Amino acid sequence: MVVYLVGAGPGDPELITLKAINVLKKADMVIYDRLANDEILKYAKDAEFIYVGKKAGSHYKRQDEINQILIEEGRKKDVVVRLKGGDPFVFGRGGEEMLALLEEGIDVEFVPGLTSAIGAPTSVGLPVTHRGIATSFTIVTGHEDPTKAKKQVKWNFNADTIIILMGVGRLEENMRELMKYKDPKTPVCVIENGTMPDQRIITGTLENITEKDIRPPALVIVGHVVDIFKKAKL
Ligand SMILES: C[S@@+](CC[C@H](N)C(=O)[O-])C[C@H]1O[C@@H](n2cnc3c(N)ncnc32)[C@H](O)[C@@H]1O
Repeated sequence: MVVYLVGAGPGDPELITLKAINVLKKADMVIYDRLANDEILKYAKDAEFIYVGKKAGSHYKRQDEINQILIEEGRKKDVVVRLKGGDPFVFGRGGEEMLALLEEGIDVEFVPGLTSAIGAPTSVGLPVTHRGIATSFTIVTGHEDPTKAKKQVKWNFNADTIIILMGVGRLEENMRELMKYKDPKTPVCVIENGTMPDQRIITGTLENITEKDIRPPALVIVGHVVDIFKKAKL
């Protein structure tokens, strides 16, 4: 009896790993969120499925409810797959699920996935580092939990490239925060539905990106690596 925490990659079903496919093939149960691409579920031919993501008109299951489902299924089934978009440990709450399972004495195995934070930009030729331009990158949430007692995100990053996930709802606030520390003309690239057929790429600067039509799910990439991407597209 084991629960695999599996990353499904950023969206394009060809960007899932061979290891993830092999684990899905032997799964008895797959517990999944809203995935960029449901085609991935077809590998789990012999499995039952539990959807724990958002349904139209209803709420997300709370994390403690999901943990409980994982524990119950982990006790009953031989091979349970907990499938998540990107990588489970990059803003995927994989750590919380792992700890909840281990506390109950349930074995957990890990299959990493290509995170959208890196896979979406690099799949279109947008490097996250570039010799002479960017020697570091930061991946940050653009939507820090407002109920937290103390804010953890400070926007005075040292990294050359900043990659913001869940950043559409608070784009204006986030850009304003970054402009306290960076030139307002710093280039910005937004990738909507990265690696998917309906992908959209929008470029601008810290001071004008909010004037554009941007819809989630999207990544916001800030830094001069965006100039390299633009050069490649010339
Ligand atoms: C809860 S986080 C999950 C991240 C995921 N674990 C990963 O590693 O990619 C969801 C956010 O990831 C980003 N995201 C995920 N898939 C994306 C895609 N295909 N294109 C653009 N952004 C994506 C968006 O910022 C979205 O709001």
